[in-house]
Amino acid sequence: MKQFDVIIIGSGIAALQLANKLTKDLNVIILTKEELTSGNSYLAQGGVAAAVAPNDDPYLHYLDTLEAGAHHNDPEAVKEMTKKAPELINGLWQSGCRFDDDGKGKLLLGMEGAHSKNRIVHSGGDETGKHLVEFLIERLEANISIEVSTFVYELVLNKEKTRCMGAKAKLPDGTNEIYMAPHVVLATGGCGQVFAFTSNAETASGDGIALAYRAGAELADMEFVQFHPTLLYVAGKTHGLISEAVRGEGAVLVTAEGKRIMEGIHPLKDLAPRHIVSQTIYDYSRKGIHVFLDLSSIPNFGSRFPTVSKLCRDHGINIENELIPVVPGSHFIMGGVKTDLQGRTSIRGLYAIGEVACSGIHGANRLASNSLLEGMFIGGKLADWINSYRANRVDSNDIHIPEKNFYNGELPEPEILKLSMMNRTGIVRTKELLTIQAEWLSQFHLEKWLDATIDYLSASTVNRLFMYITASLITSSALERTESRGGHFRKDYPIEDNANWMKKQIIQQRINKK
Ligand code: SIN
Repeated sequence: MKQFDVIIIGSGIAALQLANKLTKDLNVIILTKEELTSGNSYLAQGGVAAAVAPNDDPYLHYLDTLEAGAHHNDPEAVKEMTKKAPELINGLWQSGCRFDDDGKGKLLLGMEGAHSKNRIVHSGGDETGKHLVEFLIERLEANISIEVSTFVYELVLNKEKTRCMGAKAKLPDGTNEIYMAPHVVLATGGCGQVFAFTSNAETASGDGIALAYRAGAELADMEFVQFHPTLLYVAGKTHGLISEAVRGEGAVLVTAEGKRIMEGIHPLKDLAPRHIVSQTIYDYSRKGIHVFLDLSSIPNFGSRFPTVSKLCRDHGINIENELIPVVPGSHFIMGGVKTDLQGRTSIRGLYAIGEVACSGIHGANRLASNSLLEGMFIGGKLADWINSYRANRVDSNDIHIPEKNFYNGELPEPEILKLSMMNRTGIVRTKELLTIQAEWLSQFHLEKWLDATIDYLSASTVNRLFMYITASLITSSALERTESRGGHFRKDYPIEDNANWMKKQIIQQRINKK
């Protein structure tokens, strides 16, 4: 058993921001499932949204965030974040973080869907996540220990099961370790991997959601999954993201015959909110019509988008003279572990930041390039909270030791789950499809797994279990919300039902009986 002041589970932008902002007298450990750079933050292409241009204003960024979020957002939270964004960017820039500029001290600002102004701050063209993560890793100090390839499989609660006291993890050599701390932070990222088509890193499989749910924390908004319109699609599979910034620079969505598919669909055309663009591409693909990105209007594509260029090259596509085949795929979950603006969950001592959290900022659909921003914003706020609240080390005599409860149900391999989620709980949902999916999931008796002893399982088996738990939470919430809003589209309830659902959150919480 190892004692710390703060345990951070995950190593994306929110985790690294928190680690950097905690005071240096705190003994902190970062536990990460693979490498420090194996998460979604590292892959982020577009950038960080901030109203830094002279013709922009945080209020406009606030309005765009609410509009994209279908007004399901917490407006106060959005106001605070959009106000803080310019200060965050300027602070990073002044401390040496490299953002793309014109060489005369003026930031170059990209455009993305549903933004009313150019306000996407980027780095290395489309390598923003990589540069930011590397910048923050370089600044970690000696009070931060790091354990890689360490898979957290269960949270440790006190005897009354009212507060979190630590986390149990599987180490690379196959043994287990217990880490104890008064502050345990979930920064595990999202769950794109529960869908067959995704932009997400392999590591994004819903760990934090399942950990929190098994421990009895409140979850909210799990039905709101964002499907990014443009994933590279070659040989029947998706192969990563083609940033929305590409459309921001002028690329358009076309059929093989050159018909522009977003004409007449939305006033913002190719830069309409993501769910609209994704649903339009989905409709074409259901009719057997392939959709492509036409880059021909963008000069110097290779230098502005080195990541996208390489991705296409690696998959045999010549960006100089070919259209890029695209399909939508899961990209971001707006729901997650319910938190306040400091990242505090419904369980004392347990926090959630970044994509795993549902802070209320993103509403029903996240505005492009607000995710790195939210991670840094709430990561910083949680640091302020922990720095000001000095907790004693936890008492290991107060740990709840669950009774042994062995359950041996089989869970089919993840590919089967992913396909079923894509087809039935995906971009276009209906009661019929969701019911089929819920019934299919019910045969695996996930409720039995919630109380099962999982100490003896391998990390990959627990990872699979976490994917099933997460998929089941998304499906049950999607079935319950009988309207369409943001990322959640029900063909049988195609419009926003403000009378019944405006601002209403679906909360999921289990009674922890163990
Ligand atoms: C993109 O570059 O299109 C993704 C940016 C985001 O999801 O915010």
